[in-house]
Amino acid sequence: MSGSNSVDRDLRRRAEAVIPGGMYGHQSVALLPDDYPQFFASGEGAWITDVDGRRYLDFMCAYGPSLFGYAHPGIDAAYARRLGQGDVLTGPSPLMVELAEAMVAMVSHADWAMFCKNGTDATTMAMMAARAQTGRKTIVLARGAYHGAAPWCTPRPGGTTAEDRANQVFCAYNDIASLEAAVASAGDDLAAIFAAPFRHDAFVDQAAPDPAYARRARDLADERGAMLVVDDVRAGFRVVRDCSWEAIGVRPDLSTWGKCIANGHPISALLGNDRARSGAASIYVTGSFWYAGAAMAAGLETLKLVRETDYLERIQTLGERLRAGLADRASAAGFGFRQTGPATMPLFLFDDDPDLRKGFCWSSAMLAHGVYVHPWHNMFLCAAMNDADIDFALDAAEQSFQTLKMQAHDLPPVEKLAFLAAR
Ligand SMILES: Cc1ncc(COP(=O)(O)O)c(C=O)c1O
Repeated sequence: MSGSNSVDRDLRRRAEAVIPGGMYGHQSVALLPDDYPQFFASGEGAWITDVDGRRYLDFMCAYGPSLFGYAHPGIDAAYARRLGQGDVLTGPSPLMVELAEAMVAMVSHADWAMFCKNGTDATTMAMMAARAQTGRKTIVLARGAYHGAAPWCTPRPGGTTAEDRANQVFCAYNDIASLEAAVASAGDDLAAIFAAPFRHDAFVDQAAPDPAYARRARDLADERGAMLVVDDVRAGFRVVRDCSWEAIGVRPDLSTWGKCIANGHPISALLGNDRARSGAASIYVTGSFWYAGAAMAAGLETLKLVRETDYLERIQTLGERLRAGLADRASAAGFGFRQTGPATMPLFLFDDDPDLRKGFCWSSAMLAHGVYVHPWHNMFLCAAMNDADIDFALDAAEQSFQTLKMQAHDLPPVEKLAFLAAR
């Protein structure tokens, strides 16, 4: 693989001049190893090519949206067909009703759907709909859970005010006593309990939802006449072909969706049951591009593949093969290597690695071998991956563990992650 990254470096330099900070948000590589490219030229199937022409097997899948692979011919053809008939019109096309029907048919708790563009739109609408429905203000959230980047939920405080975060109470995920205490502190003002389908916070091990915690959240919402919200923006359709908490038998009132529901075309959704319908109907939410037909056509095609193919079983099997192969190779090389989360959305962390210097070294080595992994965020498998890709990743991993073994004793601190030690 060529070592040059001159095109990326040049783009970064130009970006510094015309884009604040050079890049922003979750796709900024500021907190990744220095050799990670910022800019990409193309994606096809499970592979991406950076602007310097290097190809990588991509375990980020655009941070989730690519469920069936980049540039999927069937999905993109549906998108392009609709584009040819007009995309953003003075009103929605019939596809909006068809897509709402398709989502409601797939997701057990849902009686209705509203569409928007980003996951943050959907989570913000969930909060508004819950408040409108209950006439109350307080929402209970798990500390550290990501629900988007609006002032009420963005993880960094810059540009927000304390008032933006008013009426929020935090609990610890999977901790029933802490959930009960948060709900109690809301008194008679509880509008909603928000929950991630499993703990998928950055920098820490992922954790499956404790069914007892999920059931308690449901019961507390019922006792208080509040709404239970599951934020499936990230995990949707990578756990089950339904709301993710269906797997543990707990149905929310509202669920939020985005990322992969149109395989990367821009659309997100708030789904709800009839208990939440009038609240949802009463809020004023909209956007110039929310009713665009092309992303809806892509969504319908994606949902068809979700319903009619064995994509989920395939990515689960591939994920389990990857997990087992990595575990063998890590232990053969003598590393404690934690793989958490569903096999379709793994997160890798090394033991005894507080500032992730081992994780950075191993991830950089993987990158050099043509595999794009993330050292501190959960990853994603997609249905365009196959056994040969997993073999390729495992070969890269074996060599990368050897690289790490040679360097592990004198790795420099990762200055950009020094804040982790202070947590
Ligand atoms: C669980 C969860 N909720 C909400 C969001 C926000 O989605 P978006 O970035 O599309 O606004 C994300 C994005 O990563 C997410 O993972």
